[in-house]
Amino acid sequence: MNRRLLLKATAAVGGAGILGINDRAEALEHEMIRLLEAPERPPLRRSEDETPLSVMPEKPTLVDFFEHRFAPASHILQSATRAMNHGMSEEIVLACLLHDISVSNLVRADHGWWCAQMIEPYVPERVSWAIRYHQALRFFPDPAVDYEYPEMYVRMFGADHEPEPYIKAAHNYARNHKWYMDARSITIHDDYSFERDAKVSIEPFIDIIGRHFKQPREGLGFDNSPVAHMWRTMINPRRRL
Ligand SMILES: [Fe+2]
Ligand SMILES: [Fe+2]
Repeated sequence: MNRRLLLKATAAVGGAGILGINDRAEALEHEMIRLLEAPERPPLRRSEDETPLSVMPEKPTLVDFFEHRFAPASHILQSATRAMNHGMSEEIVLACLLHDISVSNLVRADHGWWCAQMIEPYVPERVSWAIRYHQALRFFPDPAVDYEYPEMYVRMFGADHEPEPYIKAAHNYARNHKWYMDARSITIHDDYSFERDAKVSIEPFIDIIGRHFKQPREGLGFDNSPVAHMWRTMINPRRRL
């Protein structure tokens, strides 16, 4: 955990008047990702941001999104790199790689559910399932696998804060599910993936993407899937309507 980054993010979120524990936790995580990815850029929503966006290929692939929209994507690349270095399965590495893709690029509230939905048509079911539930599991320690309540949440809210009922319900459901450890693995590799100087790249993951991500022929955003509009929104988040 990068403590300087954590303190900076805590100060920024603390002054933002955000009341609910989950909103504050998500705001903090988002702020840490923003500080890691683009510390010089003010915290604007994409639609208000004037930074020119690069032109994407006509039929964009997931890797194109990493290069043109998610970059530098340091947090998710660090997370996937850790999972890979710890010998996790390819599905878990892919889940780590995609677990927060909505946060800086589409929407951050309830990002576990959003990220899962965005990729659901293209990945094995257990990958999107794990991503959906990592959001809730972040709030619950599991000593059996050395997952502790995140230090950044303790600093932010104190150890006695209680997650909202829907988060508790999601945790209870996931805890007893056969894929629990998939979602838990994301949280294990999530908490330590905020290092500022980490050298990471999408390259080591291209084969895993090729094996497990069903890239639509028409390009992401243009395959008429139920989630195509989400990818189109990321291609051009400044469309007026
Ligand atoms: Fe997350
Ligand atoms: Fe994360």
